[in-house]
Amino acid sequence: MSTSPPGADAPHPAFDLGSRLTDTPAPAAVVIFGASGDLTHRKLMPALFNLGLSQMLPPEMTIVGVALTEWTDDEFRDEMRAAIDAHSRSGKADDEVWDGFARRLRYVSGTFDDADTFVRLRALLDELDASMGTRENRLFYLATSPTFFPLIAEQLGKVGLGDESRGNFSRLVVEKPFGRDLESARELNQRLSTAFHESQVYRIDHYLAKETVQNMLVLRFANLIFEPLWNRRYVDHVQITVAESLGVETRGGYYDQSGALRDIVQNHIFQVLSIIAMEPPARFISRDVHDEKVKVLRAIPPITRDEVDLLAVRGQYDAGFIGGEPVPAYRAEEGVAPDSSTDTFVAMKLMIDNWRWAGTPFYLRTGKRLPKRATEVAIQFKPVPHLPFADTDAAAVVPNQLTLRIQPDEGASLRFAAKVPGSRVDIRTVAMDFQYGSSFLKPSAEAYERLLHDALIGDSTLFARWDEVERAWEIVEDVIHAWAEQPIQHGSYEAGGWGPETADELIERDGRKWRHL
Ligand code: BG6
Repeated sequence: MSTSPPGADAPHPAFDLGSRLTDTPAPAAVVIFGASGDLTHRKLMPALFNLGLSQMLPPEMTIVGVALTEWTDDEFRDEMRAAIDAHSRSGKADDEVWDGFARRLRYVSGTFDDADTFVRLRALLDELDASMGTRENRLFYLATSPTFFPLIAEQLGKVGLGDESRGNFSRLVVEKPFGRDLESARELNQRLSTAFHESQVYRIDHYLAKETVQNMLVLRFANLIFEPLWNRRYVDHVQITVAESLGVETRGGYYDQSGALRDIVQNHIFQVLSIIAMEPPARFISRDVHDEKVKVLRAIPPITRDEVDLLAVRGQYDAGFIGGEPVPAYRAEEGVAPDSSTDTFVAMKLMIDNWRWAGTPFYLRTGKRLPKRATEVAIQFKPVPHLPFADTDAAAVVPNQLTLRIQPDEGASLRFAAKVPGSRVDIRTVAMDFQYGSSFLKPSAEAYERLLHDALIGDSTLFARWDEVERAWEIVEDVIHAWAEQPIQHGSYEAGGWGPETADELIERDGRKWRHL
């Protein structure tokens, strides 16, 4: 006989994790700017195709590509089929399925500074409202170089495509990077707002769509045992690591203008940090979640000029070995300036000045060409206040640590002390481990499937709100300027190593160590 109260198996209403992938969006046209680019090929089109395969796009849904390349509709379709065949998680499209999808695809060729491109786009969208039933609903996706973001938004505004006054929706999805510093981000936001209200803007941070990042919320707020310990009294410090073994691959041109601080810390790491550190939202709905996240970010004092050398370190990789294979130095990568001063590694110490976290440091690190790919958060608990076992080697008792593995090998692990069998009380550290892959056999949707779907149904929970983005830039503003004034120390870490020595000094100064991954 079950001892559970009636309804105990039903999810708590506050724990409906936002939009479920079962909700079918209203008919709409998805317009992708930058339709001939890498993101469209590798991520967006396969994601839309898979949403279609999973019956999550209504039959009226139409996809319009916009780019400079001169393609006909059929040429665009051929190109997209090849992209889906190469990159879709569902493998090659079969002919019948493809034909059903291909009829959704249309193409407009033109430059973004030409008003006529937008006049023609508007005419096509009007025609699709009539022929496909897209009901004036539009999702504009900016998958172009960031330099075009404000221009495209303004051009859309001029032809009336930002308008939502007829019960329709018009949404703007903006890829990262959202600005390069505080000032440029503010300017970009201001220009977007000439045509789109904040509620219409969906700023992508694909980390938020990772299952394991969302699982942090469930772990914290759907379990009783963690939250009472989740504060300054029990947590010694937190480490967040985003390590990549890859270099800049084919993106040297973009990356050299960006660097690790802008590419990973200001967005992905700060988003993860705010989820780890925030107060429980009353409900998992967009406004409540964003309100809590921004409160945490506001409690982080920005690093000041005087503190930069103490609280933030950077590095740039030299030639080295990854997995036994030689790899070139960053400055020798394609698209990278030979005298580049761009950071490929960043480590940072931040404090959160609020009642929950005062005095508990958060150490962050990220880098390219590190020994392995590993993204995780480690919550390091304090030592026990007193050890009652007289003959036990106290040094053998390692404080508890909870590790949340975002990727690869997604899961969580809790380290605790256990007695070694025998007559003495010898203590050894053991681990309790949860692995996503073996506990849940169902593959998860790609981050871009989730994000496109959420934008289509109007759920902005997993997108970055403007006040979060602005605050994230404020925190690192002085670091950006201080680093811009001084050239980086070239080759400060070897490819295949764990970053420059200064990163170790940053944490060892506090009597702590980076986790060995
Ligand atoms: C992107 C960065 O936002 O995130 C890349 O621009 C980085 O440089 C990538 O490699 C990492 O994403 P993921 O999902 O592989 O951790």
